[in-house]
Amino acid sequence: MNATSARLGRFITLEGGEGAGKSTQSRLLAERLRLRGFECVTTREPGGSPGAERLREILLSGAVAPLGATAEALLFTAARIDHLDHTIRPALARGAFVVCDRFADSTRAYQGALGNLDPVLIRALEHTAVGRTHPDLTLILDLPVEVGLARANARRGDAAADRFEREGQAFHEGLRKAFLEIAAQEPARCAVIDASRSVSEIADLIWAAVESRLLAPSAKGVA
Ligand code: TYD
Repeated sequence: MNATSARLGRFITLEGGEGAGKSTQSRLLAERLRLRGFECVTTREPGGSPGAERLREILLSGAVAPLGATAEALLFTAARIDHLDHTIRPALARGAFVVCDRFADSTRAYQGALGNLDPVLIRALEHTAVGRTHPDLTLILDLPVEVGLARANARRGDAAADRFEREGQAFHEGLRKAFLEIAAQEPARCAVIDASRSVSEIADLIWAAVESRLLAPSAKGVA
């Protein structure tokens, strides 16, 4: 399966900072799509295929951080290539919805904006990995940094923070700004969702965006 394979399904990504509730919302969105009769594959990055899950362990352990942002971006990209080849493109080719918790916008925000990597390099890596398999809809779950970090801490309990959760307030403020800038640059692809609301309210906002942009009769090419 390669970047030019036929594509019948729809590709939705969820992006945002820590504690935005992306994994819960991925699950709820998939349930709603299945109730409407669609096959839906939920997946995540880094990871989502056996090879990429092995790279995930290395990336989140912090072992790559000392090698610098370029090395991290290359490994996230390597994981993305495996994920696209083994999970995302096969699902899209058979007509399924794919709902993915983080994707290439996370590399743009974390390694690009915050790692200060050259945007030309970030674009080149994205182009190489993603090709034409860009998301049809990206949901940017936006919320104040304090709220997100408090939620992430509560969820983690006594477990150790991962490499990115250990970063300070300024890092997370920069992250929020980077995601909002992506949304402003690509409004046709991105919808900003107020993730400071309750779980069910966020789910309703997400469903409204999916219905209007992908399922409405005026939307392109979905049954
Ligand atoms: P995860 O536990 O999945 O975090 P979250 O619940 O916040 O999604 O860890 C993924 C981490 O990897 C997260 O901090 C963001 C980071 N990341 C990047 O830095 N670049 C990337 O391209 C991706 C996909 C994730």
